[in-house]
Amino acid sequence: MLAQANKNYDYHEEIVFFTHSETGLAGVIAIHSTALGPAAGGCRCKAYLSADEALSDALRLSQGMSFKNAVAGLPVGGGKAVIFEMGPSYLREAAFEAFGREVDKLGGRYLTAEDVGTSVVDLCAVARATRYVAGLPPKSGLAGGDPSPWTARGVFLAMSAAAPGGFNGVRVAVQGLGAVGMKLCAMLSESGASLVVADADTERALEAKSRFGATIVPIHAIHKIDAAVFSPNALGGLSADTIAELGAPVVCGGANNQLATPADGARLLERGVTHVPDYVANAGGIINVMAEYLGETTDLVEQRVDQITGRVRTILEGAVATRRPTNEFADDLARDLMSRKRLKALA
Ligand code: NAI
Repeated sequence: MLAQANKNYDYHEEIVFFTHSETGLAGVIAIHSTALGPAAGGCRCKAYLSADEALSDALRLSQGMSFKNAVAGLPVGGGKAVIFEMGPSYLREAAFEAFGREVDKLGGRYLTAEDVGTSVVDLCAVARATRYVAGLPPKSGLAGGDPSPWTARGVFLAMSAAAPGGFNGVRVAVQGLGAVGMKLCAMLSESGASLVVADADTERALEAKSRFGATIVPIHAIHKIDAAVFSPNALGGLSADTIAELGAPVVCGGANNQLATPADGARLLERGVTHVPDYVANAGGIINVMAEYLGETTDLVEQRVDQITGRVRTILEGAVATRRPTNEFADDLARDLMSRKRLKALA
């Protein structure tokens, strides 16, 4: 077990670096915990400024997966893979197959799937080299495929629990209109919400404007919008500066790592903002991925995603009752679930 190196994440069980000169593949697999089962979590592919930044992302995201999977009641631990997006000589398909071989070498201790920057096509290449992979095209009646519709549904349910009363005529500020954000906008629009949106990609913002009548604002202004809910669905998180400028009393979205540091949870509490911890709101995707891996049906996925409503209520009420930031309350709940299983195994 590795010593704690940074206050943003805690002890990890295993970290594997890999490079493959023939295809340009380079990256890291971080296994945070296998206490509840194999470490499950997607594979992110993006441009990083440095190897340190990529490692830090993998460490934080893999811990988030442990907590997410524990709180979602899934029989798996937490892990994450990060692949550096490479230059023109990068042979994508062969690189993902080589990544599959790295996953396979771990003998099932890590299960991979999609994350930001990876697609079903990439995961199909991974599946040529390992069976420890999900996020593949669905088989009839069974779970599988793109997890983002389930993630968006879970976020919508979480938001409805955190801001009860329905969305008819209610303003919601949505940051990021990708696979999750755009589907979330569709659900909110159907419920009568008035949308204010921002995306780094102008085309996406214009699509939300034409489909949902959304108002477009610059990306640096979206968190300041006077709205009932601010919903982060891009990358990166809130920091002391942006928390001070927040225009909504509720923060609930699909983005991972919504807080730049765990201490930002206390800043939100101080400002009276209700924050639904990211991994509680966005568990729909991994619920679908795990059901696919276990050969389960979409009906089961729907039932499990619908349980997000009750979990959000439990966490928000528990945090209020104990006057603690919601992220700390949820993290402790997850750690408790993980250690109870460990103790049971030792008994
Ligand atoms: P995506 O890559 O499809 O969409 C991200 C969107 O954010 C893009 O449209 C991009 O242009 C936009 N964006 C990037 N930087 C921005 C900024 N500074 N301001 C505004 N917009 C910006 O990604 P996806 O799949 O929608 O995921 C979004 C977030 O949800 C990520 O943090 C991801 O880790 C998380 N998530 C996604 C799941 C899924 O099922 N896809 C599951 C769980 C979490």
